[in-house]
Amino acid sequence: MGLTDLDRAAAFFQDIWGLEPVVAAGASLCFRGTAPLHHILELRATPVTRSIRITFEVRDGAAIDDLHHRLRGFGVTDLEQPAAVALPGGGYGFGCLDPEGRALAFVAHAEDPVALPQRPDKVIKIAHVNLNCADPDATCRFFLDGLGFTLIDEAAYRFLHCDSPDHSAIILAPGKAATLNHIAFELPHAEAVMRGAGRMEDHGYPIEWGVGRHGPSDNIFAYFAGPEEMPIEYTTEVLQVDDSYTPHGPDYWRYPAGRTDLWGITRPRSRRFSRIQELFAFGRDDCRITA
Ligand SMILES: [Fe+2]
Repeated sequence: MGLTDLDRAAAFFQDIWGLEPVVAAGASLCFRGTAPLHHILELRATPVTRSIRITFEVRDGAAIDDLHHRLRGFGVTDLEQPAAVALPGGGYGFGCLDPEGRALAFVAHAEDPVALPQRPDKVIKIAHVNLNCADPDATCRFFLDGLGFTLIDEAAYRFLHCDSPDHSAIILAPGKAATLNHIAFELPHAEAVMRGAGRMEDHGYPIEWGVGRHGPSDNIFAYFAGPEEMPIEYTTEVLQVDDSYTPHGPDYWRYPAGRTDLWGITRPRSRRFSRIQELFAFGRDDCRITA
């Protein structure tokens, strides 16, 4: 993510949100969760706030090559050759642009760090990223046919499942432009989300939507406007699925009138959150990740 005040954002993610800083060379700041991943959030100073790139962890180098081959066959033209990655954490991978110009990267890490002990006040990993799409059909086709995701559920949004037991990793929302809708960070349990929401309230970050439980993915949520109004979510109890899962369509997932979640105790999302869900645009100039 590109933010204008890195020091302030770093203090927020470390002291309030529950990430661990990673020692990194270069101009960016990296943070990890307790999952065994080098980092889950990289922040860079930019003149205006924006989304820079989404990086996907890939199983191994052979899977990187397969994915690259598949994208070439799909007709992706803004596509790097797989090589040594020049981003923090290194590894082997490549970058590309999706049909709406978002920079994506696919990396198999040579070495992942060990998992840290789980704690209620520490984030585990990114649960999902939700993307606004001016052309959801084109972006959905790219994720399904180009990248091999599966459409696991469809409500107002489309929920895309990857090679992980989590219900969904990418969620596509219809929108005006290719912007970030929000990033969801996973906590270990419901108590951690409630305490995390309290910690955010204590520091002047009110809950913008939640606490509630979503239909698709069955996860508990609480949404906030983070540093520079970055749209972020605490989540937990993400539905774990296997091949036996039955996908459902919009009729199945419709809430009763007046509700915006399964429990029915949260008010609808704030006007502020609706606004900031379109604030972070993607640029087309960040697709190179190799040396
Ligand atoms: Fe979410």
